[in-house]
Amino acid sequence: MKKILCLLIIMILFGCQTQVPKVHVFVYDLSDPFIKGLSQTLENQGKRHFDIVTHDAQNSQIIQNEMIVEVLEKESPHLLIVNPVDRLGAYTIIEKVKQENIPIIFFNREPLLRDLERYDQVYYVGSKAEESGIFQAQIISNLVGGNPGKLNAVDVNADNTLQMVIFKGEQGHQDAEIRTDFVQSELIDLGYEIDVLKVIIANWSETEAYNHAKALFDVMYDEIEVIVSNNDAMALGIIQAMQEYHTLQVDLDENYVPYAIPIVGIDGIERALIMLQQGALYGTVINDSYQQALAIIDLGLALLDNDLDGLNYTLTDGYYIWIPYKKVT
Ligand code: GAL
Repeated sequence: MKKILCLLIIMILFGCQTQVPKVHVFVYDLSDPFIKGLSQTLENQGKRHFDIVTHDAQNSQIIQNEMIVEVLEKESPHLLIVNPVDRLGAYTIIEKVKQENIPIIFFNREPLLRDLERYDQVYYVGSKAEESGIFQAQIISNLVGGNPGKLNAVDVNADNTLQMVIFKGEQGHQDAEIRTDFVQSELIDLGYEIDVLKVIIANWSETEAYNHAKALFDVMYDEIEVIVSNNDAMALGIIQAMQEYHTLQVDLDENYVPYAIPIVGIDGIERALIMLQQGALYGTVINDSYQQALAIIDLGLALLDNDLDGLNYTLTDGYYIWIPYKKVT
């Protein structure tokens, strides 16, 4: 009798067990600290609902395409979540996934609208780059005293014009292009005179920004009044170069008083927030990777349930979930 009861319980348990959806996440490069944070949240929160596996393309679209093909050939995933290496590479990915009729959520690197329009099960979760550029301009406005007619001591040469250098992310990336344009246009709209001494492309990378900043400081440290960085990782590289520049100057002249150029970043990664508390970073704009990950999971669950009405986020124009940025100083 006992045996039969046990068998019955086992049968009921196995019979009722539903299959856990198989979800594959493809990220462009896990050595990018912002992406690493986002993908960790995706995994930690996602594993409550999905059998979730992450694949790192190490910044190669060719590798990412191969990884996607391999997953599609080996198993039948229920959902793909993709951070493309090249946003234009989304076209090929969409065409491939469409043949399998699997839903796909892109994030962080926004595909072109005409590519999204190619498939009825494709979505994008991200944040509006315009907003982050505007917030950086507002932070700078605060920094210089809020009155375009009379800048405070940040205007070192007292010409009532802001001499700035911009560190730009990857060329062609929507965030790099739009943030760079909007921080300038917003400052101008607020009434400020700006003089962009240089725009330096450092591909989101701390090391690249460090090397460029080192070379830059050697030739024009004293002329720069504000540094705008398209992300925090590059801001961290600039901070390190600035600290080394000061040490060198103190070594050369013991009366040298280190003067820090204010830096404004974007992302709110942990190490940058520590720098902010220590005063080495003037401000940043939080690119909310936590909320972005939660929105991706929520959208994934709704897609698998075939019930977009159950979404806890607003779906704009049928494709997009936008997560707002936040200012921090
Ligand atoms: C941006 C982020 C950068 C970098 C980039 C990668 O949104 O601010 O730090 O991670 O995405 O695509």
